[in-house]
Parts: sequence; C-alpha cells; structure tokens
Amino acid sequence: MIEKLKAMADEARAALAAAQTEDDVEAARVKFLGRKGQLRDLQQGIKDVPAEQRPEAGQLINQVKGELEAMLQQRQDELAAGSGPADAIDVTLPGRATRMAGRHPLMQVRQDMINIFLGLGYAVAEGPEVENYHYAFEALNYPDDHPAMDEQMTFYIEDDVVLRSQTSTVQIRVMESQEPPVRVVVPGRCFRRDTVDATHSHTFHQLEGLCVDEGITFADLKGTLLSFAHGMFGPDVRVRFRPDFFPFTEPSAEFAVSCYMCGGDGCRVCSQTGWLELGGAGMVDPNVLSAVGYDTERYTGFAFGVGMERFAMLRYGIEDMRLLYSGDMRMLAQF
Ligand code: PHE
Repeated sequence: MIEKLKAMADEARAALAAAQTEDDVEAARVKFLGRKGQLRDLQQGIKDVPAEQRPEAGQLINQVKGELEAMLQQRQDELAAGSGPADAIDVTLPGRATRMAGRHPLMQVRQDMINIFLGLGYAVAEGPEVENYHYAFEALNYPDDHPAMDEQMTFYIEDDVVLRSQTSTVQIRVMESQEPPVRVVVPGRCFRRDTVDATHSHTFHQLEGLCVDEGITFADLKGTLLSFAHGMFGPDVRVRFRPDFFPFTEPSAEFAVSCYMCGGDGCRVCSQTGWLELGGAGMVDPNVLSAVGYDTERYTGFAFGVGMERFAMLRYGIEDMRLLYSGDMRMLAQF
C-alpha cells in the first residue's frame, strides 16, 4: 500500500510538472485527486492495511494529498499567469511608447553652463552646503556685523554652523587646497532666509566661477563673461557691468546681458529695461588671496556668481520659480 502510494505520488508529480495547459492540469487533478481518482482508491484500501501500519499509512496519504494539492494550485497559477499560448504576443496591438525622462530644466541649465566653462579650460569643483561661520563669512572678508551680510541671511544649524548662502564659500576651499593657476566653476545649492514667492526661494542654485593666475585683469573677467553670455543667449547679446559691492571682490560689479528677446529695446521679458541682470562679479580682494596664503604681488584673480533659476526661467519662459521645485509632472513633462 505504501509502495503504491509513493509510486502514485511520483507519477502525479511528473504529470503536473509536464502539464502545458490548464486542461492538462485539470486532467491530472481528475486522475489523481478526483472523486474517482487514484488517491481516493488508495484511501479506501486503508482498511486492508494491518492495523499497526494504519496510522502511518493514513498520515502518508494526507501528506501526499496536501503536497499534490499545493503543486496543482501552483501549476494552475503559473499557467494562468501565462507562459502558455494564451500569453502569446498580439502583434496587432498598437505599440506602447517608452516614457523617457528628460533633465529637469534647472539641471539642463546647469549642464549648459558647465559645458561652456569646460570649453574655456575650467574644472568643476564642489563644496559643502553646511558650512561653519569661518568659511561662510569670515574667510570671504565679511567684517563682523557688516551690512553686506544682510542680503546673506541664512539658516543656522548651530551658533557658528550655517547653510551656505552663496557658492562663494567654495572659492576659499578650492584656494586652500591648491596653488594657482586656479580655474574652477562651482555649481551648487544655496540657502537664504527669503520669503518664497514667484522670484524667491529659501533654496536655490548658483554657479560660481573663480580664476586666479599671474596677470589676470578685469578685462579677462569681462571677456570671460561675454563668452559665457554668448554661449547661453547667442552671439548677439552684449554685457554690462555696473559698480556693486561684495566684501570678497574689489572692485565689484553686477553684470547684465542685453535682453535676448528684444535686443535691448525693452519688452516684457526684461521688464522694459533692455537688460537682464544675471549676477555679481569682481576682482578677488587681495585680503582673500593673502588669507589663503597666495602671494598677492604675483597673483590676481576674478570671481563671479550667477543664479541658475533665473536662467532657467528666462530660457524656458517659466514665470513662477516655485514651479521648478513643485515636482508637478504637467510642468516637468514638457522638458
Ligand atoms: N556670491 C555673490 C552673491 O551671491 C555673487 C558673487 C560671486 C559676487 C563672486 C562676486 C564674486 O550675491
């Protein structure tokens, strides 16, 4: 009896494993587990088994039954999930378009900016977003309590640990780590205690540039930013520099490009001014150079910083900065 049971179990397992269709599975079920199936016969034969072997035989029957039922179910599920002909590809169905992710508009702008400077021989550097007070302000030549810090109000982690308010902090870290010549751009996130509106955000992005070498002059700064403006807005734009103040540059300037939309006549994009203000720049203050141990008799340099959001908004006609951070697919899917 036990022998027969084992043989039947083997046969049933093989039949199920070989089943190719749901009909095959059903046939196996009827043959082995059905009301008139082999297992049923064996169960009925139990009364002929010697009494002392009956418990063992009964147990074995139950075990085999459980196993076969589970296997049957599994095979049925597999076939239903489709590895059989039911699953064959319907070549008449229309194809499904692959959804390709595009770069976020901010990241497109970031990459375009970097590419321009790579072409000018710059390297990319990065630095921490969480800075101590020294790198955030002191090393950038901010005197204590100087009003120039007002526009750099940021978030404090501890008394002397802040979120950086500008990528200029990385100028210091780069200069501390190498001797001139220095030519780097620094893309990165910055933070300020600004109230969020269509043109302000507590978290935003800048691209910093720093060049230090022998004989660097303001003319180099101007030429570099002109190349940059041409790369971003086309060969027809002009650049404008007007006096400004930053503690870490002297002289300092704010720079603008002529409006790429109206050519400088005044339009909606440039708020009728003909110019688009893009950022700050200047010659690196000798105090900053000497603080990192550079010989100020030998080396001069320039630095500049631009906001990435402004470029992205101008280029793609995005009127509210908040859209850039919304994660709204209706906006993002357009890029
Ligand atoms: N870091 C300045 C700002 O955020 C811009 C700047 C960078 C000015 C480098 C001069 C030199 O406003």
